[in-house]
Amino acid sequence: MATMSQICPIFTAVFLLALQLCIGNKSCTIWSSSGHMVKRGSSFQVYCTFYCTCKRSMYSDHPPTPQNHEEFNSTTIYFKVLNITENRTYSCQCSCSLSLDSCGMDISTGYPPDRPKDISCIYKVSNDKSGDVFCTWKRGRNTHLKTTSVLCVRSVFGNHTSIDHECPRNGTDLSSVSFPVPRSVQLISVRVKAHNPLGSSVSSTTNYTLSDIAMPPAPVLVHPECSSRECIIRVHQSVKTDHLEIQYKSDGQTWTTFTSPSHSHQGAKAWNISLLEPYTLYNFQARSKLSTGLWSQWSTNISSWTQEEAPAKELDVWYAEPASDSKSLKVYWKEANNSISRGKITRYIVKVYNPNSTLRSESNIKCNATNYTVPFCANCEVAVLSSNSKGLSPPAKITTSYKQAKPPQDLQVTAASDNVTISWRKPEAAPASYVVEWYPEGHKLEELRWVRLSGNDNHTLITGIKQFECYEVAVYVFYDENSVGRTRFTGVTNLESAPAASPLFQEKVEGNAVTVSWTELPRSQRKGCITNYTIYLDSDSRPQMSYNVQASERMYIIEALSPASYSLWMTAWTAKGEGPAGQKVKLYIQQSQLPLLLMCGVISMIVLFFVCLCQNSGVKQRLWVFLQCLILDVVPDPANSKWAKECTQVKGKLNLQVQLSSSSVTKDEEEPILVDVEELPKKNSLTSIPTKVSLQHPSQTSQNPEMDPATHLYPLTTYIKSFSHDSDSSDHTQTSLDTNTTVEYISSHGPGIIAEEDQGEDEEEEEEFPEMLGFLPSHNVFLEPMDFGGKLTLDAVKIDCGDFFQNI
Ligand SMILES: *[C@@H]1O[C@H](CO)[C@@H](O)[C@H](O)[C@H]1NC(C)=O
Ligand SMILES: *[C@@H]1O[C@H](CO)[C@@H](O)[C@H](O)[C@H]1NC(C)=O
Ligand SMILES: *[C@@H]1O[C@H](CO)[C@@H](O)[C@H](O)[C@H]1NC(C)=O
Ligand SMILES: *[C@@H]1O[C@H](CO)[C@@H](O)[C@H](O)[C@H]1NC(C)=O
Ligand SMILES: *[C@@H]1O[C@H](CO)[C@@H](O)[C@H](O)[C@H]1NC(C)=O
Ligand SMILES: *[C@@H]1O[C@H](CO)[C@@H](O)[C@H](O)[C@H]1NC(C)=O
Ligand SMILES: *[C@@H]1O[C@H](CO)[C@@H](O)[C@H](O)[C@H]1NC(C)=O
Ligand SMILES: *[C@@H]1O[C@H](CO)[C@@H](O)[C@H](O)[C@H]1NC(C)=O
Ligand SMILES: *[C@@H]1O[C@H](CO)[C@@H](O)[C@H](O)[C@H]1NC(C)=O
Ligand SMILES: *[C@@H]1O[C@H](CO)[C@@H](O)[C@H](O)[C@H]1NC(C)=O
Ligand SMILES: *[C@@H]1O[C@H](CO)[C@@H](O)[C@H](O)[C@H]1NC(C)=O
Ligand SMILES: *[C@@H]1O[C@H](CO)[C@@H](O)[C@H](O)[C@H]1NC(C)=O
Repeated sequence: MATMSQICPIFTAVFLLALQLCIGNKSCTIWSSSGHMVKRGSSFQVYCTFYCTCKRSMYSDHPPTPQNHEEFNSTTIYFKVLNITENRTYSCQCSCSLSLDSCGMDISTGYPPDRPKDISCIYKVSNDKSGDVFCTWKRGRNTHLKTTSVLCVRSVFGNHTSIDHECPRNGTDLSSVSFPVPRSVQLISVRVKAHNPLGSSVSSTTNYTLSDIAMPPAPVLVHPECSSRECIIRVHQSVKTDHLEIQYKSDGQTWTTFTSPSHSHQGAKAWNISLLEPYTLYNFQARSKLSTGLWSQWSTNISSWTQEEAPAKELDVWYAEPASDSKSLKVYWKEANNSISRGKITRYIVKVYNPNSTLRSESNIKCNATNYTVPFCANCEVAVLSSNSKGLSPPAKITTSYKQAKPPQDLQVTAASDNVTISWRKPEAAPASYVVEWYPEGHKLEELRWVRLSGNDNHTLITGIKQFECYEVAVYVFYDENSVGRTRFTGVTNLESAPAASPLFQEKVEGNAVTVSWTELPRSQRKGCITNYTIYLDSDSRPQMSYNVQASERMYIIEALSPASYSLWMTAWTAKGEGPAGQKVKLYIQQSQLPLLLMCGVISMIVLFFVCLCQNSGVKQRLWVFLQCLILDVVPDPANSKWAKECTQVKGKLNLQVQLSSSSVTKDEEEPILVDVEELPKKNSLTSIPTKVSLQHPSQTSQNPEMDPATHLYPLTTYIKSFSHDSDSSDHTQTSLDTNTTVEYISSHGPGIIAEEDQGEDEEEEEEFPEMLGFLPSHNVFLEPMDFGGKLTLDAVKIDCGDFFQNI
């Protein structure tokens, strides 16, 4: 405004004043000792000359921060800036006349440009006449200021005249430039000038022979035409070139390079690429080169499928014979890879031939199946073929009627965490091939896997083995088409633990035998290979019994169980241990009853007869003498025999021991112990209804008064105590009778009748009768000495009743 008013002195003062009020006047002038642009890190002063006289201050940046200034003279102050590192703003202000504007300036900082380096140029030939030189260079560090570069070129023509291209006035921010150069130019010299407000710099000069940096444009490929083995590629080139390279590859492979013979090419030309694989997608690209210079860029990729051919080889086929019927065969094959199938398999054909080689059946199977069950016969032959649009594969033949040959020897299995190595010793007779098959035990048909190996192999690595799974593996060695040796083994696992559960079983009691049958554990609960099963049988009165059963069994019969109540359970084992016990089942073994009932009936009659005789005093006397004679002999005391007593009591409260025995037998009736026993249904019609029966403790003999009460239970009413009263395997059978009498017991040998707990102490030598049921003495038990060692067992009681009557 001030300058304007000086230039135009004709304007009136009013106009000046109005202008001053409207626009405002500067209160000061600001300048720096180094101008607006300073090098980073430099130091300088900023001056302010004021037009006002009141307090003057200096600020920097936004918002303005007061700075400590120094006086230069009466109107001017200054401020020293040290080591400036960034753009700054400085301003000055009169504190008195606020109507006047403050003055300020921006200081920009940066660096002068570095010398451009690493100039690199190529000559992109666009046609026969011209091309473009494209140069790049490195600018060096960031200047923080607007910096432009220019490329100065000097061209030398073939006729040795040279033209200096003036360095263009306007430069570029970029570090590359492209400019047209005719193809008659032989050499160029280039240098780069960089410039900014803080300075400028020039690179060294680089000379290029254009033919050395000439690069033709990339060729253009036209969609190829392919047969199964070769493709014809058309290549378009806009510039005459001397070299051409074509590359091709299928997916996942590396490039194969085809180099054309060296001669000049231009326009469209067809190239024949052969040695390709059928039914494969190929990618193609090409590049070219002048006689010297650089290769062009690669052309854009084009791709094409080669056509199909009939499958090259027979399928890899294997088989399994379903165990259920020998009239069928399940054949398996592997999807062949593309180099064998040579096309998209549209179907598989399974042919079955009769032994006389006539076709028996032919099945077409959809393309994605890998197994098929065909009807089969002994000596039949199966052929599996694959088919694509161009034809059939050779047949892969299978027969099951092989001649047995020497199996592979020294099979070894090494299991790692997720793979298993199978190795064997090579037989002396050179084998043609091997097949190793494997499958989870019991799932051969569903999960059969196999691998075919050459005759030189002696091991294979099986992968994909599931953990906690039991595998069966077989190695087949083929010596020729007809003879094969096989070794099969089971129990291959790569991780195992004890089974997770116990098998579900069913038990069936028949007489004194229990039939236990069970099903295999579910696959997920086996946790490896089941090695065996253990059946446990526990009863209160005897030690726990266990029976080991092989893993292949599904049934076990436990025989000759003594009557008692048992609990039964079973477990499964792997090599890592025993699984948990599962369900526990209670079962009862009862004494068989029919013979005993009959016998008791007979005995009752005998006793009745005997009692009648005793009513006669003469007979009684004679009997007394007779009995004494008997007692002198070592003969079992019939009165003391349980059966005699019991059967007697069945028919009334006749107390035989008082009259018939002089031994100091006391009746020492124990308090009955009442036990609830469920009587299971029996075949015997007399006792076919299940009943609840109270059992009473038997009377105790007094020969050993300190004896603990016997722990055997005897029937209170409807049962007769077992006649056998010791021996481990004696049968504590019980017989129902109609009458309601209490059993008394007479013993001539005390605690011998007591259960096993008392054995050995007071017992005369004991003979055991483990299997007594078949023992039928023909002697009269009363009259003839019989060495039963103080025991009168059931066997002894199965007497010939006819003899008994005769002797009496
Ligand atoms: C103060 O210094 C400035 C800069 O040199 C000059 O323009 C100005 O006239 C001086 N003022 C006086 C009063 O000397
Ligand atoms: C200038 O300042 C920068 C950063 O603050 C520092 O690294 C440099 O040493 C200083 N230079 C001088 C000469 O003080
Ligand atoms: C400093 O100023 C210059 C020139 O005005 C500008 O080009 C540059 O970007 C500025 N730098 C920063 C860091 O603002
Ligand atoms: C050299 O060649 C250039 C370009 O072809 C041409 O302009 C120039 O006149 C030639 N000079 C002489 C001396 O032939
Ligand atoms: C350089 O200057 C010329 C004229 O001198 C102008 O035609 C051209 O557009 C300018 N180029 C750039 C990139 O500014
Ligand atoms: C580049 O060529 C010029 C003449 O065209 C020559 O004077 C200069 O020495 C050459 N520079 C180099 C580095 O060869
Ligand atoms: C082959 O055997 C089948 C039956 O097995 C029979 O029907 C057929 O006639 C036989 N063919 C020849 C040529 O013997
Ligand atoms: C197999 O073929 C059937 C029917 O053609 C189709 O539904 C199924 O998806 C195919 N499976 C695979 C794995 O290609
Ligand atoms: C087999 O498994 C073991 C353990 O995971 C591993 O170390 C080994 O490399 C595997 N072998 C192969 C051939 O993959
Ligand atoms: C398998 O063959 C190799 C050499 O081919 C031999 O070193 C190795 O001991 C063989 N293994 C068995 C189990 O025979
Ligand atoms: C048998 O073929 C069916 C489909 O057809 C497939 O799901 C199954 O996995 C195949 N079995 C084997 C053992 O390859
Ligand atoms: C049952 O299998 C386990 C584990 O393999 C073993 O320790 C045990 O001895 C086997 N029992 C019999 C009777 O084989």
